Amino acid sequence: MLNRIKRWKNQKPASTLRDRVEQIKKLPIPEHVAIIMDGNGRWAKKRALPRIAGHHEGMKVVRKTTKLANELGVKTLTLYAFSTENWKRPKNEVEYLMKLPEEFLGTFLPELIEENVQVKMMGYKERLPVHTLRAIQKAMDDTKDNNGLVLNFALNYGSRAEILDAVKRVLNDCQSGIMEIDQLNESAFSSYLMTSDMADPDLLIRTSGEIRLSNFMLWQLAYSEFWFTDVLWPDFSEEHFLEAIEGFQSRQRRFGGI
Ligand code: IPE
Ligand code: IPE
Ligand code: MG
Repeated sequence: MLNRIKRWKNQKPASTLRDRVEQIKKLPIPEHVAIIMDGNGRWAKKRALPRIAGHHEGMKVVRKTTKLANELGVKTLTLYAFSTENWKRPKNEVEYLMKLPEEFLGTFLPELIEENVQVKMMGYKERLPVHTLRAIQKAMDDTKDNNGLVLNFALNYGSRAEILDAVKRVLNDCQSGIMEIDQLNESAFSSYLMTSDMADPDLLIRTSGEIRLSNFMLWQLAYSEFWFTDVLWPDFSEEHFLEAIEGFQSRQRRFGGI
């Protein structure tokens, strides 16, 4: 018993999440963080649950991560929620994923409004069910005047399609005389992308141990710092998020210089 007390007395108090946040805030915070939220299916499989249980659990992590990103002073948080390739999945899984925005926003929209978060979406609206679009549109309308964190959902998003569409619109604008071909530079091209109103991601996080981009922001991630972790998205905690930010803060970005 005495030994136990001695050991307890010698222990340094564990730094709380808040202390860690304060420490992190002393160094530059990534302005735009993008996350490929992967591993929901495997999380469920490990527990002998249906895949959709993993997606449901992942929603809670979206909430916590958004809150923390906002608190840290991140300006934009882009979350890859559904890719243009995810339509290949079984019908019931796709249907559930299309219900998630309603479920998420139905529960947490008041909280997002309260926290001054602005909701946005990037992706192709065409194929999305009306009920999904309606939920997102309501969230965008209700938060349009907020000026805290921008929570940008990548929904039915695919980077190659985005780039091809941009090329087509550039060609159209050149043909109709709105733009001269010589005016086309990187910043002009960026303005044709779905991210025209935001900075490129400074930090990309992908969970679940996959080391690939899966058609996510190929143009925008040209100089981002990458953080890959084996943690499955439903297990991705606030501590894991802080670890990624600390990792980012320890990197030296050179952008091709020395
Ligand atoms: C990520 O988790 C969520 C979406 C792609 C919608 P997954 O559903 O891809 O989970 P795994 O990769 O099968 O474990
Ligand atoms: C990427 O994850 C898409 C999202 C997280 C929304 P996937 O699970 O679809 O990627 P792949 O198929 O493993 O490359
Ligand atoms: Mg996956």
